[in-house]
Amino acid sequence: MNVNNTIFIIATALITLGCDAEQPLNFNEHIAPIIYENCQNCHHEKGIAPFPLTSYAEVVENARLIKKVTASRYMPPWSADPMYQSYLYEGALSEEEIDKIGNWVDQGFPEGDSSLMKNPLDFISKDTVLQKPDLTVCMEEAWKITGNNEDHYQTFVIPVEMEKDCYVQALEFKPGNVKAVHHAQVLVDSTGMAYTYDQQTPEYGFGTFTQMKFKVNGILTGYLPGGNGPIKYPDDTGKKLTKQSYIIFNIHYAPTPIDMWDQSCLDIYFSEESKPKEIRGQTVRSTHITNGPFELKANTTRYFHAVREVYSDMKLIAVWPHMHFRGKSFEAYAKISWFHTIPLVKIDNWDFNWQNAYFFNGMIDIPAGAEIHVEAVFDNTASNPFNPVIPPVDVKWGSSSYDEMLILGMEFLDASSDSKKQ
Ligand code: HEC
Repeated sequence: MNVNNTIFIIATALITLGCDAEQPLNFNEHIAPIIYENCQNCHHEKGIAPFPLTSYAEVVENARLIKKVTASRYMPPWSADPMYQSYLYEGALSEEEIDKIGNWVDQGFPEGDSSLMKNPLDFISKDTVLQKPDLTVCMEEAWKITGNNEDHYQTFVIPVEMEKDCYVQALEFKPGNVKAVHHAQVLVDSTGMAYTYDQQTPEYGFGTFTQMKFKVNGILTGYLPGGNGPIKYPDDTGKKLTKQSYIIFNIHYAPTPIDMWDQSCLDIYFSEESKPKEIRGQTVRSTHITNGPFELKANTTRYFHAVREVYSDMKLIAVWPHMHFRGKSFEAYAKISWFHTIPLVKIDNWDFNWQNAYFFNGMIDIPAGAEIHVEAVFDNTASNPFNPVIPPVDVKWGSSSYDEMLILGMEFLDASSDSKKQ
């Protein structure tokens, strides 16, 4: 090594040190708020995550892994790309927060001034908006999850009878057993077909791996591991629940080595207004696919593009993407004109077990004449670890999880009929 090189290396080292020294980070001031707000709802002693992150010692013990899983956006688990669109109830870190965690770990994870120590309990969300539910709907029987270390999907249908049609303002899915319930989707069927189907199966409810021959009228809410708390629709809006409805819980039970029981419930809060603006539902689905037919040949990957025209002005509240296990990526956007596109949702690594409804920060105006586009890729090869049939077989559209689907559900207010009323 010659002298010039040595000087150059020392100079670079000093510059690097200089940069780090500019922004000294410590746990109590900079890191605890991020971890306690975004991680502890799952990473606490009784939570669903494998270890707690509720003190300096617990975070330091896992510091290098935390840097890795936050940088790759594996944690917190949140499928949608946060750079594409942002949402209410979002479970994703900002770039700045990820950088802070990484730099703090690189600086040797200093603890900082203990008088500034944060109490993890201060970060638990206290949602005072919701008080006592107007209606609580529960599974009529407890369901036994067999301790065979396998995933299990079970669908329960709960009949609801009310004196009149009501408008749902807010909802919260309450798992009966947080260790057992991995995720759940709550749907509504007003046709009674799902209930009739359930009557024909010997057990309580039915497995989703059997063919479901019924029409679902809409999605009410979803529950993700760790829970995203109550879902509240915008003020003076509501989702109509007809006086005779069937509420469907489609629950994914995580693998367990021991038998467990679950009896989950749904808390429903009705709108106080007798006639709030009604939230409507619409989907982009198989009939809108432009490069069909919707078939996935064994051992192939395939791209689909679906387009649905918007016929009257809408105020979009939420979207819910849906595919089954062979789904790989999903993107939806509204094309207003050739030069104006509104991003709705983008999921680069689709995970059937982490699917969710995405509520926008405020409603998105989509004028009549716009188009809703959905672009999705499916992987029906053996290298897709989620493929439920190995060796792969040809797959068509169907509601059984052995089949596939491509749906974008949309919840919105019809802005044109709204303005006519006023
Ligand atoms: C919604 C629940 C949930 C939230 C929120 C969450 N985690 Fe996790 N985390 C889990 C579960 C479940 C696992 C174990 C299964 C897995 O690894 O996917 C896990 C595993 C981990 C692991 C171990 C990964 C490995 O490869 O072994 C780390 C580290 C971690 N989480 C850090 C975090 C951090 C840091 C945050 C917040 C920024 C966070 N988690 C937020 C549920 C959550």
